[in-house]
Amino acid sequence: MTESHILASWAANAAAWTEAVRNREIESRVRATDAAVLAAVVDRRPRTVLDLGCGEGWLANELAGRGFEVLGVDAIAALIERARGGGKAAFEVAGYRQIAESGLGGRRFDLVVCNFALFGEESVPSLIRRIPDLLSPGGAFVVQTLHPVVASGDQPYADGWRKGSWAGFSDAFTDPAPWYFRTLGTWVAMLRDAGLALVEMREPVDSKTGKPASVIFVAKVA
Ligand SMILES: C[S@@+](CC[C@H](N)C(=O)[O-])C[C@H]1O[C@@H](n2cnc3c(N)ncnc32)[C@H](O)[C@@H]1O
Repeated sequence: MTESHILASWAANAAAWTEAVRNREIESRVRATDAAVLAAVVDRRPRTVLDLGCGEGWLANELAGRGFEVLGVDAIAALIERARGGGKAAFEVAGYRQIAESGLGGRRFDLVVCNFALFGEESVPSLIRRIPDLLSPGGAFVVQTLHPVVASGDQPYADGWRKGSWAGFSDAFTDPAPWYFRTLGTWVAMLRDAGLALVEMREPVDSKTGKPASVIFVAKVA
């Protein structure tokens, strides 16, 4: 129920999300996290990149514009439609459940990236267990997510579902979905349980707040 609410919410907010990203309305992205995820990908010098949960496609298209061969996938057809109009990357509609069950037709990539796109309790570990099958030999998995220490706020620092919110976003947003909070330790354990080893962790700092805007995990097949 909660997992399906996540997808229903992204479907309902596809237009508002595209506007917010393309009009650069999300300040933490502009100040810190867009550049941080781009650097984390580019520094690995991949030839081929899979952007999982690509949304309206900004990252996939930015990378394709820099000469990388990029496939973006997302469960929401309305977002993929917008992504296709936005640049040079290739895009397909695919959900995490489908990818967890059967991969992407045997295709492998030098780097798989997930930028603020992992929210579920069950869907996320299932997807991550499939990542080694999506990576070329020596390939890397890059995840950018909210920094758990900052995102936990006043609530206990413990895994669990959290209420969604569009606070700070425009009135065009509706029906925020809950998301599953994970501690730093849980993220690292989830990678390990999927046969991945953490090789790097970056904590981009937001110049306005002085706090980490996110955490970026870089993992490789152990
Ligand atoms: C916050 S947006 C991030 C989009 C993009 N990565 C970016 O950086 O702008 C989260 C994305 O994750 C996608 N997503 C969430 N759950 C998914 C699932 N189970 N399967 C595929 N995509 C999913 C949503 O459709 C949405 O596009």
